[in-house]
Amino acid sequence: MTIIIGINDSHDAAACIVKDGALVCAVSEERIQRVKSIGGFPANAIDACLDIAGLGRGDVDHVAFGSNKMSPFNLHNAFATLTVEDHIRIEEEYWQPVIYDGADVKLRDVLPDYKPAGILSYPLDDIPFAHMRELDDSISDRIHAMRREFAASFFGIEPANVHFIDHHTAHAYYAFVANPLRGREKDFLIVTGDAGATMRGLPPFPGAYLGNKADAASIAALAEHPLIRADYDMIADGTPDDVAHYLAAGEICAVFCDAMEFGPRALGHRSLLADASRPDSKERINNAIKKRDFWMPFAPAVLAERFDDYAINPKKGTATYMTMTFETTELARKHLAAALHPVDLSGRVQSVEKERSPILHAILKAFEARTGIGGVLNTSLNIHGKPIVMEPVQIATEILSADGIELNVLFIEGTLFVKKGTQP
Ligand SMILES: [Fe+2]
Repeated sequence: MTIIIGINDSHDAAACIVKDGALVCAVSEERIQRVKSIGGFPANAIDACLDIAGLGRGDVDHVAFGSNKMSPFNLHNAFATLTVEDHIRIEEEYWQPVIYDGADVKLRDVLPDYKPAGILSYPLDDIPFAHMRELDDSISDRIHAMRREFAASFFGIEPANVHFIDHHTAHAYYAFVANPLRGREKDFLIVTGDAGATMRGLPPFPGAYLGNKADAASIAALAEHPLIRADYDMIADGTPDDVAHYLAAGEICAVFCDAMEFGPRALGHRSLLADASRPDSKERINNAIKKRDFWMPFAPAVLAERFDDYAINPKKGTATYMTMTFETTELARKHLAAALHPVDLSGRVQSVEKERSPILHAILKAFEARTGIGGVLNTSLNIHGKPIVMEPVQIATEILSADGIELNVLFIEGTLFVKKGTQP
């Protein structure tokens, strides 16, 4: 048995495990640390992956990093830490003088009080908070050696078994493997995320449900949370049809089941669902739960067997991961209006297959039986600015505990939580 750990230690840090050539699990560090897009060595994500795979650090044979050079900017977690104002300042006070005036500015001078968010594992004391252009080769070499030695000692393996892959080769390979039109369409632009840089060199992607499952203790922690105990009725044997009932009645429903998704999209295992035929669903999710800007569009999840009723798909691309955008049909504009782009009415449709997503598929089937509509609005289970929830209790600690939240129905691994006073 050969165990390889794939690591992205840039921004959007993540880890995956490849066992005898097959991808078995993948987790992003942000989900555990609860800091969106956190970078650096993903020690927690690695341990979570080992836990899922039933392995220990000592079982690991090789480590593969999805980048060769690494900017201290990313090692110091600037991507997850800096505000919009910080970025504007960097443009005006760093890049503008550097590019246009040939000035020798240091990032540290622009942000003298910089402190990274989150817990970073690498020893960064002698690595300056700087952009690559400020470094001489000795610092770049030191960073490289530090990453190799840190990984080798973390797993107790020889430094020679730590490998570095050119970052953009990793992106290119990931794009090739994940291309929904591979072999059928040339000149096609694929955009890949950095967490996927963990996965270079893998056979066909086994699906996005690569993360943890909630254990009984974590589900109990939600059930026993004061906000739930005070305000929600618990129904132990809830069904997908119960969820469909509440969706059809206009409720926004939180759905939490099975293995967490890898990557930025919630695909029905850590999702908020709503009836997309109701024009107000979008505003209600934005205002009552997500607290995000009005212009950010949502996406529809539709039954695979109804996909062609809603999406115009002449190239027959696959739409399993909510990564492809489609023109939509007249019917979609009636059934799924709140989940389409408000300006051009396109949709980033997720096609939901029974084998891949049995719970979400069952909810959609039950919703179709009640309404005739073959899809719902599907958005990630989080509030704006936080990562998607990893454990059920975070629905209470992060979402329900925020101000002004109106989320009345939770369907958590078969248990239904309904806020008291909700229309039955
Ligand atoms: Fe990248």
